[in-house]
Order: sequence, then C-alpha cells, then structure tokens
Amino acid sequence: MTVRINPSILSADFVNLEDEVARIPNADLLHVDVMDNHFVPNLTFGQQMVGRLQDVSRVPLDLHLMIDDPDRWAPEFAETGAFSVTFHAEAALDVVATARRLREIGARAGLALKPGTAVEPYLDLLADFDQILVMTVEPGFGGQSFLDSTMPKLERLAERVKQTGLDVWLQVDGGITEETIVRAAEAGANTFVAGSSVFGREDPIAAIEALRDAALP
Ligand code: DX5
Ligand code: ZN
Repeated sequence: MTVRINPSILSADFVNLEDEVARIPNADLLHVDVMDNHFVPNLTFGQQMVGRLQDVSRVPLDLHLMIDDPDRWAPEFAETGAFSVTFHAEAALDVVATARRLREIGARAGLALKPGTAVEPYLDLLADFDQILVMTVEPGFGGQSFLDSTMPKLERLAERVKQTGLDVWLQVDGGITEETIVRAAEAGANTFVAGSSVFGREDPIAAIEALRDAALP
C-alpha cells in the first residue's frame, strides 16, 4: 500500500515560508490551503503566492481550494503548475466540467467534501477525478479535532474505488495525528494531510515518518 503524507502549510510560519518549505524534504506533496473569506471564514493565499511557493518548493504542490466559484478560479490555480488542484463540491456549479478543465491544463483533479456533504451524488463521477478529499474537520482552520463521523463516507468511497478499479487517491484532511491516521487508513484513506502534527513539531522530518509508519498496516 502506498501512503502519502502531505504537510499543510497552514500551520507553518507565514513570514518564513521558504525556510518552512525546506523543513519537509521527505513529504510527498506540500498541501496549500487557499481560502477566500467567503467559502470559509479565513483568508490565505492567492495565485501569486502559490506561484512563488511552487518556485521555492522541491516538493510538488497539492492545492486545496476553499473558495467560492471554483468553476472560474480552479483552472487559474492549475495554471501555476500545481501538481493537484482540489475544489469543493459544495461551491462548484459543474464539478465534472471543472475537473476536465484541470486535467486539460495538466493538473490532477480533486473533489473535496465537507463533513456534512453526502458522497452518493459523486460516486458515479469518480472516473473524472484523480483524488477525493474527505474533510475530517469543518474547513477553515488548522488544529481542530478529527471527526470520526466522516469515516463511513470514506469506506463507501474506498469500496467504490475498489469495485471500479480506478486509480483515485482518497485523501483526508483535518485533525490527523499518529492516532487518528490509523482509523483513516483502516477506512481506506491513502493520502493524509497534516498541519499541526508536522509543522507544529520540532522535528517535522521525524513527524512525517512517524505518521507514515502509523498509517501502514
Ligand atoms: C483546514 C485545512 C487543513 C488544515 C489541517 O481547513 O484544510 O489543511 O491545515 O490542519 P490540522 O492538521 O492541524 O488539522
Ligand atoms: Zn486543507
């Protein structure tokens, strides 16, 4: 089983981002939370900052867009050269058209679901996505507690991915620690975002390896 650990830069020191990015050379991807103060009550980065992060990071970028109108904006974020661009189902008008645009530009397409969003309407659309992000906290802030109530959704997705044989990564984001990662991995996740439990640690390299070990069966 492949386990990917994507540290979230939301928990890094925003005035030293170049140094912070250099602290996680063993990460699989760098998770970058884009927030617009509308879809979520918090504000972070725009395309210019994402482009600069891309320039200084040896680790490719995994963008998580917590913004309104992703149909319009997600392709522009993909143009920065990000490895993957994940947008929220709740905010999009046409999730399939937006995913196809992202793939055309060359980014992996991801669909994110808030804790209260049902997965059923999206189960037949998996072929258009490279990753599904099951939010394990309400989006907006780092440092919140993992919601176990989201695990049945992950199980349903894992079952469908297996049935279809598609190569869709299942990502979890929010409250991931060495304890909760075990439950998420058991439910079928293979891609784990961790903010405070990586950037909040003195030794982020060791923290990443500890999470990776904990996720392996
Ligand atoms: C929350 C963000 C997360 C956040 C996770 O809305 O999407 O990526 O950084 O932070 P932790 O791991 O501290 O819960
Ligand atoms: Zn995120």
